[in-house]
Amino acid sequence: MGKKTLRDAEVKGKKVFVRVDFNVPIDKEGNVTDDTRIRAVLPTIEYLLVRGAAVILASHLGRPKGRPDERFTLRPVARRLGELLGREVRFAGDVVGPGAETAVGYLKPGDVLLLENVRFYPEEERNDPEFAAKLASLADLFVNDAFGAAHRAHASTTGIAAHLPAVAGFLMEKELETLGRLLADPKRPFVAVIGGAKISDKIGVLERLLERADLLLIGGGMANTFLAAQGYDLQASLVETDKLDVARTLLAKAGSGERVMLPVDLVAAPDRERPDERVTVPVDCIPAGWAALDIGAETLKLFEDKLRPARTVFWNGPVGLFEVPGFDAGTLGLAKAIAALDGTTIIGGGDTIAALKRAGVADRVSHVSTGGGASLKLLEGKELPGVAVLQDR
Ligand code: 3PG
Repeated sequence: MGKKTLRDAEVKGKKVFVRVDFNVPIDKEGNVTDDTRIRAVLPTIEYLLVRGAAVILASHLGRPKGRPDERFTLRPVARRLGELLGREVRFAGDVVGPGAETAVGYLKPGDVLLLENVRFYPEEERNDPEFAAKLASLADLFVNDAFGAAHRAHASTTGIAAHLPAVAGFLMEKELETLGRLLADPKRPFVAVIGGAKISDKIGVLERLLERADLLLIGGGMANTFLAAQGYDLQASLVETDKLDVARTLLAKAGSGERVMLPVDLVAAPDRERPDERVTVPVDCIPAGWAALDIGAETLKLFEDKLRPARTVFWNGPVGLFEVPGFDAGTLGLAKAIAALDGTTIIGGGDTIAALKRAGVADRVSHVSTGGGASLKLLEGKELPGVAVLQDR
C-alpha cells in the first residue's frame, strides 16, 4: 500500500483522532446486534493504547440528517466497545465545542473516548472546512480506520486531514490490501458472484469484473434485468426497464464465451408476501403476473459447479429475497457453497454478510469486508477520498 500507516507514526503521549465506522445495527433496547465493525478496529485501538496514546474515536451512525437524534446516538456503541476492550470507554455527548473539548482535555495516555455521532452536524457531510478544523484541534494525529466510510468525502473522513498528519489504521490497511490484490493479482480461476436488487448500483463494478474475473455469476433482482434484456418475459418481477440497454452492452462485452452466467430457473410467487405458493420454473415460464424472488435449484447447482474449481471468489449481493423464508434457499445455499471452498473467498456488502451469518458460515470465508459501498467503489477502480488524503509513503 502506498500510504503511511500507524506504524509510520510516533504516537506516544499523543492524542490520536481515529475515524472508525461504527455504523452498526442497534435494537430498540439499545443493544448492538452485530459488533463486527467494532471488533474490526480493536487492533488499531489496542496498538495505540499499548504505546501510550490517548484515543479519540469518531464515527457516524445511520443518516440523522444533520441534527441530534437520540435514535442515532453512539452511546450503546461506547458500552459495547468497553466490554470488548475490557476497559472504560468514555463518551462525549458532543462532537465539537465545549462538551467535546472538556472531555478531550481530561484524557491521559491509555484513555479511550468516543465522540457522539459526527452526522449530528450538517457540516460533517458538507465537508465544511471550519468544522474539520475544529475536529482536528482536538488531536495531534489523524488515523483513518473507517474503511466502510472511505468513499464519503466528509469532514471527519477527508477534511480533517488538511490540518493533521494523516495515516491509515490497520483495518483500512487490511481492506485495501485484500481488495487491491483481488483485482491486481487474483489466483485463477477467479469467479465473481454479483447479486442484489439493481444493476444501477453496480454498473461500474460489473464492467471491471468483466475485465478481471474469469467468470461472472449473476443472480438476484439484477439478473431479471439481464434476462429481460435477452428477451425473456419476467412478468411482475423487479426489472429496471431503463437499464435494459446497459444490460445488453454488458452482455455484449462479455462476448459469446461463457464469461457471464445468468439463472436458468427461478423461484416465483404471486408476490413477496406469499412464499407458500412459490413454484420453481424455467426462466421462460414465469406464471402470468407472478414475480421471481430467488434463483431455482438448478441454477444453484450450476453456480456451485462453476465455483468448485475457483481459487478466488468475490461475492456481493444476495441472489434472492433471502430475508423471507421460502425465498432464501438460493442465497443460503450459495453462502454454504462458497464457505466450503479452499481458495480465497472475499465477501462484501451488509446483506451478503447477513446471509453468511444466517447460513452459519461467516467464520469460514477468507475475508469479510466491513465496507459495502466502499468495497464496490474500490473494485470499480476508483480512488476512495478517505484514502487519497492520507500521507504517501
Ligand atoms: C455503510 O454502512 O456502508 C457505511 O457506514 C456508510 O454509510 P452511508 O452510506 O450512510 O454513508
